[in-house]
Amino acid sequence: MSLPAPTSSNRAVVTGASSGIGAALATELASRGYSSILVARRGERLAELAEQLRERYRVQAEVRVVDLADAAARAPLADELAGRDIAILCNNAGIATFGPVTGLDPTAERAQVELNTVAVHDLTLAVLPGMVARGAGGILTSGSAAGNMPIPNNATYAASKAFVNTFSESLRGELLGTGVHVTLLAPGPVRTDVPDPADASIVDRMVPDSFWISAEYTATLSLDALARNKMRVVPGILGKAMSAAGQYAPRALTAPIIGRFYRSLAE
Ligand SMILES: NC(=O)c1ccc[n+]([C@@H]2O[C@H](COP(=O)([O-])OP(=O)(O)OC[C@H]3O[C@@H](n4cnc5c(N)ncnc54)[C@H](OP(=O)(O)O)[C@@H]3O)[C@@H](O)[C@H]2O)c1
Repeated sequence: MSLPAPTSSNRAVVTGASSGIGAALATELASRGYSSILVARRGERLAELAEQLRERYRVQAEVRVVDLADAAARAPLADELAGRDIAILCNNAGIATFGPVTGLDPTAERAQVELNTVAVHDLTLAVLPGMVARGAGGILTSGSAAGNMPIPNNATYAASKAFVNTFSESLRGELLGTGVHVTLLAPGPVRTDVPDPADASIVDRMVPDSFWISAEYTATLSLDALARNKMRVVPGILGKAMSAAGQYAPRALTAPIIGRFYRSLAE
């Protein structure tokens, strides 16, 4: 079974399409002929991308300005998607915080959980019945190599990505044979902007250029993997190394080492 072919009425939904991996996914989907629904909070960026996609690829691109961390704002989008022919859902919007949870704003931490996990769950459950009834569809979720291990000083993010990593891979098992593909994108660091040397983070400074992968490469690899219904796609050497460490090294050993590194990200 392959993914549904693009039609004039079906849509690929990309959350977090206003920058980074999401913008690259929307562009790659358009280059493959898919019309899209682009979701994020920054409407101007979405409108600009939608215009580019229409002009360059002759597809339709709709914009939905939604704060996905807000359950009330998210509900109308979920209702709309449940009633439409959604060929592909890219659950991509996500944020991360760094530093000890005790020093972080509890409201923002809760919003991170809501965005990174509950919104993914809600939108997936909204599109699934239609996909299963049509016997075709694709759900790509941006998890992370960070979701494979405990990461002190990145606790909310790592735990939220553990949820989506496990949810995606479990769901795939339930849907085998239905025609619905489910793939987890679990990258290590992806360079989404060329950093200004003055503001470069410790990750930008420590990870050699040759180890970075681009958002465009990540998007192409991810959509190829979704077409093949791969369980998980881990682009780049660093992502693969993080993945192996997270899955096979003893957690009691890796947690303090990686926690020290992540503490420096918060400074
Ligand atoms: N880049 C990496 O190194 C990396 C590594 C592993 C995993 N990932 C995962 O890949 C995904 C994309 O990452 P990225 O690096 O491309 O991030 P990014 O450039 O920061 O983009 C994040 C996207 O999420 C959207 N977003 C944030 N809060 C939102 C909210 N409350 N409601 C709706 N949309 C919201 C942002 O749009 P607005 O601000 O306009 O709302 C933006 O479009 C994330 O899930 C991330 O955890 C990234």
